[in-house]
Amino acid sequence: MAPVIRVTDVAQRFDGRTIFRHVSFTVAAGEVFAILGGSGSGKSTMMRQLIGLLRPAEGRVEVLGQDMYARNSDVLTRIGVMYQSGALFGSMTLLENVMLPLEMHSDLPPAARAGIARVKLGLVGLADAAGRMPAEISGGMAKRAAIARAMALDPPLLFLDEPSAGLDPVTSAELDRLILDLREELGITFVVVTHELASILAIADRCLMLDRTSMGVIAEGDPRTLRDESTEPTVRAFFRREPMAA
Ligand SMILES: Nc1ncnc2c1ncn2[C@@H]1O[C@H](COP(=O)(O)OP(=O)(O)OP(=O)(O)O)[C@@H](O)[C@H]1O
Ligand SMILES: [Mg+2]
Repeated sequence: MAPVIRVTDVAQRFDGRTIFRHVSFTVAAGEVFAILGGSGSGKSTMMRQLIGLLRPAEGRVEVLGQDMYARNSDVLTRIGVMYQSGALFGSMTLLENVMLPLEMHSDLPPAARAGIARVKLGLVGLADAAGRMPAEISGGMAKRAAIARAMALDPPLLFLDEPSAGLDPVTSAELDRLILDLREELGITFVVVTHELASILAIADRCLMLDRTSMGVIAEGDPRTLRDESTEPTVRAFFRREPMAA
């Protein structure tokens, strides 16, 4: 099967400074793929390239069989994104938040939009919270609601930026479970930017590790294999929580 994402030799520079270069990878359908790396390594920059917000200085990004930056590409309506802040609209109920993408991108009548939004809230375990306001729910529930909103248009591919940031370990583990369930039940492919080691080991089939010093990819593969077998000091430091040698 053709990969869901194919990144070919991309580079990014800001103000003449190279963040990464010669980055190539693919993501297969149904995978949970994690993008890792230290602060400033370019994880968010890579994510922005993948979701159509930042055209790479060099190279090519193909998502769902289309060139992301081709002028006639409609791929943006076929992906779901949960931004790091989660960013639910505070003046709207959870149901209204999840209905929003349907209002913007579908011609369905309101009752149908509400019906679909309720189904999505049900999928993330928030069926009973549809009428609540974002200020009335926990951080874990807000993440779930944001995932439900990202799924509103039935995307086959979901991007999550730091989904477990700010959550306690138990809530974070529940979110991991949800991601695996959604992959299992709906066949959704996930690209997750994260630095939660426990979460990576629990959910990621494969990962890509960016590194600021080498301005590119320093590791790629099954995170458990990288943890057990990598001899690269930065990779070992991350996966085994070893301090770097001075
Ligand atoms: N629009 C921009 N203009 C200039 N520099 C930028 C821009 N966006 C990112 N950078 C720089 O690119 C580098 C990579 O940033 P990025 O946000 O992708 O890192 P990150 O891996 O997501 O880090 P963190 O873990 O802290 O979120 C940083 O040095 C950052 O300052
Ligand atoms: Mg970031």
